[in-house]
Amino acid sequence: MNRTKDLQKAEAIMRKNDRGRYTVPTHGLYPFQWNWDSCLSSLGFSHFDIDRAFVELETLFASQWNDGMVPHIIFHEPDDGYFPNTDVWQTDQPVPTSGITQPPVAGFALCELYKRCTNKALFADRARALLVSVHKWHQWFANYRADASGLVAIVHPWESGRDNSVDWDRAFERVPTEGVKPFVRRDTSHANPDHRPTDEQYKRYIWLVEKFRSLGWDNREIAIQSPFQIVDPGFNAILIRSCFAAAELAGELGESEIQSASMTMASAMLSSMELLWSEEFGQYLCFDRVSNEPVNSPSIGGLLAVFAPVPQARIHRVAQTIETIGQTTRYLVASHPSTEAEFDELRYWRGPVWLIVNYMIAQGLRAGGEDKVIHRIVTDSIDLIETSGFAEYYGPITGTPCGGDTFTWTAAMVIEFFNQFDSDLSQAC
Ligand code: DGY
Repeated sequence: MNRTKDLQKAEAIMRKNDRGRYTVPTHGLYPFQWNWDSCLSSLGFSHFDIDRAFVELETLFASQWNDGMVPHIIFHEPDDGYFPNTDVWQTDQPVPTSGITQPPVAGFALCELYKRCTNKALFADRARALLVSVHKWHQWFANYRADASGLVAIVHPWESGRDNSVDWDRAFERVPTEGVKPFVRRDTSHANPDHRPTDEQYKRYIWLVEKFRSLGWDNREIAIQSPFQIVDPGFNAILIRSCFAAAELAGELGESEIQSASMTMASAMLSSMELLWSEEFGQYLCFDRVSNEPVNSPSIGGLLAVFAPVPQARIHRVAQTIETIGQTTRYLVASHPSTEAEFDELRYWRGPVWLIVNYMIAQGLRAGGEDKVIHRIVTDSIDLIETSGFAEYYGPITGTPCGGDTFTWTAAMVIEFFNQFDSDLSQAC
């Protein structure tokens, strides 16, 4: 393991993908600003340029919608290399954006950035302004996407970030393909088509976009009319952790209203997470709000749930499940277990390992003291970049680099692992 060299490479990638006020996830495949990419990447910046880390979040929140939503893509500069582009979304925002959201990891990231400021006074006003925007986004979830349990639903697979997860297969059958205007995918000209979602899935992604556009991007109507409404434990865990983080930061900055509203929201959601627990699967499961039934699919969203402060017994059981997954794959953590029929080693979220998820799972397992599993997750992550470069994702059996290369958030996570999990990396298990 070569810490110095890995860190140098990681920082160079982040600088290369830096467009001044935002970073692109990678050149070519993703030429704009993506929401959760930016938030996770800001953590990487914080170790060598704290000001730049804040700017990343500030640029993202400058495109927050009036109703509070923070879109998943901000199209800062025209670029023909991506589909669906602004002509498909037509959201009529000052800077063009998509019309759906993404996992709300900003609250967590912001709180981390502020903790890392050596001169807090210098950043307090910026942190406060961002906190207000983050809180507005959290309230948007509560207003538009929560049911009585407080848990929130996604209305498009892209919102989860796990675009083609096996978790969505059944619900996706409800999404039609008729009437979708012919289109040309651009992702498959930048990345190996065998690593990407299928054409059939793309037609359904676009059907949903066209449907939401036909509703005038009215988030109230979208939440009612989408045939795809899933409660994803990973997504909810990220929101819960971000709400707790917002409460912590608000406490520090003396924003008592945000503090108590965030605590109330996070606590209610956290107790409702129990509704998603499956003892049989040893993990949390998604819930389909349209068919009103659990989704019996053991994908990584149900393991990522430990990013929220769930009970110790749950953390322990999830750690055991991850160990079992690790018995049949060289690299943790496969996004779908290799023992399942739908496992597809190199295809996006149907098997590959993603360092951002590894990072959030490791963060969650820490609260349960699951040192052995954490050690394996972080060493596997560093082994992957050392043998296969800073790819978007990797085959869990072969370590094959997949998707885009020189990837910003992979670089950011390497910086995080070396700084936040240093003792886990050096510990001999
Ligand atoms: C893509 O284009 O692959 C994204 O995941 C959608 O945001």
